[in-house]
Parts: sequence; C-alpha cells; structure tokens
Amino acid sequence: MKTIVAFSGSTRAASFHTRIIRALPGLAPDGLQIAHFDLADVPFYNQDLEGDAQPSAVIAMRTAVAEADGVLFAAPEYNGSYSALTKNTVDWLTRPMGGGALRGKKVMVVSVTPGPGGGQRISKTLSEVLPFFDNEVVSVVNAATVHEKIAADSDTVTDADLAVALRDGLASF
Ligand SMILES: Cc1cc2nc3c(=O)[nH]c(=O)nc-3n(C[C@H](O)[C@H](O)[C@H](O)COP(=O)(O)O)c2cc1C
Repeated sequence: MKTIVAFSGSTRAASFHTRIIRALPGLAPDGLQIAHFDLADVPFYNQDLEGDAQPSAVIAMRTAVAEADGVLFAAPEYNGSYSALTKNTVDWLTRPMGGGALRGKKVMVVSVTPGPGGGQRISKTLSEVLPFFDNEVVSVVNAATVHEKIAADSDTVTDADLAVALRDGLASF
C-alpha cells in the first residue's frame, strides 16, 4: 500500500481544496491511500523552533511526509501565488537545508478556483520551486468555476472531467 500525504492550504470550513482532499479516497486507485494532514496546529516557520524545540505538530507533519510515498498539495491561489499556509508547509518540510522531509518525494498539485483562473499561477510556481528539492511533480490538476464541480451538500466531485483528472493524477504516483 502506498501512502500519499495531502495538505490543504486553506483552513476555511468550506474550503474547496479540503473538500477535494476528502473526496480523493473515492477516486484513488487500489493500493493508494490518502492521509489528510490537518495543518491547523502547525505554527508559522521559525528557526528557533528547530531541533529540540520542534513543536509536536511539526514533528508529526515531518514524520508523516518522511514515511510517505508522495505528497499532494491542494493549494489555493492567493494573489497569484501561495496561500500563507501552503508556503509555510513547504518551508517546514524543506528544512533543515538539504535534508527536509519533502526532499525527493513525488508531488501532485491541485489548485482550483471559483473564478475563471483555475489556480494555474500557483501551480506554475510550485512546479518551478519543488524541483529545487528534487521533487518530481507527477501531476497538476486545475479547475475553474469549481463551485459548479463539487456537490453543495457532500464532498463529492460531480464534474466528470475533474474527477477523471484527479483519478489520473493519483494514478501517476
Ligand atoms: C487573499 C485571497 C487572494 C485570492 N487571490 C486569488 C487569485 O489570485 N486568483 C484566483 O483565481 N482566486 C483568488 N482568490 C479566490 C480563491 O480562489 C477562493 O477564495 C478559493 O475558494 C480559495 O480556496 P478554498 O476554497 O480552498 O478556501 C483569492 C482569495 C483570497 C482570500
């Protein structure tokens, strides 16, 4: 069984990115499990919180990624770039320099927007940044008008094209 750790870059209760992560187990191929890591308790990166001072949530996050076969960033696009939460996650996981838990992991990026952009700008940014840490970006999935593509009352991807793109993306792990 392969394990993919999934991070939502939004703590908003009705976050589309979080809801897509919740839908992923129903789309994953046999032999692939999705471990949703909740970032709510992870503090802002601070170099004083390294070594023996590491917060328990940081240790848990780094351990989960170190033991995983891949990482999925469900990354909202904020002002054409990262949400602070996604950036913070990348920062924690790429330290200590040269040896962060993210190094060498296969990565999938999912970014969706209610507007017409589809999250392509943050996807491009992540795709450019992550190879610096020897990450292979195995799949990028974007979707615009996402509020029309997820059921209003459940964490179900109702749009066939988006569901297929997510399924294919997971299969690429
Ligand atoms: C600070 C901020 C900046 C945003 N900037 C963009 C943007 O550059 N492009 C875009 O398509 N949507 C932008 N949006 C709208 C987000 O795509 C939308 O709020 C989305 O639902 C956020 O993801 P979530 O549903 O997982 O919270 C922005 C939203 C916020 C709060």
